[in-house]
Amino acid sequence: MKNVSARAPSSTANLGPGFDVFGLALDAYYDEVQITKQGRGITIESSDSVPLEPEKNSAGLVVREMAKKFKIKDGLLIKIKKGVPAGFGMGSSAASAAAAAIAFNALFDLGLDPNSLVKFAGIGEKASAGSIHYDNVSASVLGGFVIVRTDPLDVIKIDPPKDLVLCVAIPKINVPKKKTQVSRGVLPQQVKLSDYVKNLANASAITTGFINKDVELIGHSIKDIIVEPARKHLIPGFDMVKTNALKAGALGVTISGAGPSVISFTSKSADHKKICKAMEKGFASADTKCTTVICRPSKGAFVL
Ligand code: HSE
Repeated sequence: MKNVSARAPSSTANLGPGFDVFGLALDAYYDEVQITKQGRGITIESSDSVPLEPEKNSAGLVVREMAKKFKIKDGLLIKIKKGVPAGFGMGSSAASAAAAAIAFNALFDLGLDPNSLVKFAGIGEKASAGSIHYDNVSASVLGGFVIVRTDPLDVIKIDPPKDLVLCVAIPKINVPKKKTQVSRGVLPQQVKLSDYVKNLANASAITTGFINKDVELIGHSIKDIIVEPARKHLIPGFDMVKTNALKAGALGVTISGAGPSVISFTSKSADHKKICKAMEKGFASADTKCTTVICRPSKGAFVL
């Protein structure tokens, strides 16, 4: 085989109280990565605005690491087609990293298990977050709802309920370069024990909701009193977006990953257009425009 292409979905991380632990693959957007044995060293081509230096690009970092690990001597050309908006908390770097890991695994017939694929894909997150976190890449690689345990890395996947629908509002604001690193920089280093207890209870309820396919339980447990309060000042109009969406029928609302997108958890029977409009109005109260998307959980990355 000379080349392989793979596609990986967008994702939302944290789901409120599950900071760096929970991820959910979303069928809103997809990235495509093709790896071809060609030339010398690693080169990246893309008509989208992504860094072309392998060490600054999430797919490039993954391919570089995998080539090193498996002693691949071929030159490799990586072509990237971005579908996931970069820097908005929709798992953009993770989608490219996941697609790269899946394509590389197939191109060299490595037969890697899911945890190993996630581990390699996680290396790509250094490009935007400065450090590795596995929530988005796990969702992008495996699909569905994921729980990430580290030391050693072990990802648990649960199939989401079929009637879970997400409304995402993506504000049109300038995001800083390395946005995830910036939004991790505002987080407290220590938390109050009573806050930890409340977040842990809600995180446990979310997991139970996914196991029991109970959308109401998931939605009503999307409550985070540690990370959301520390980050929300980075999102213009966040409080109004949340209040409006809840009034319009969302079950739970929080920051999508490191933001600035805001995500509403809803059931199939909710009025999704109304919830999107309510979120738009919330952003408008802070003179900010946004794009909204209604989506569902996605399956994981796959070879095309
Ligand atoms: N868990 C990560 C964070 C997700 O919140 O920083 C980044 O998309």
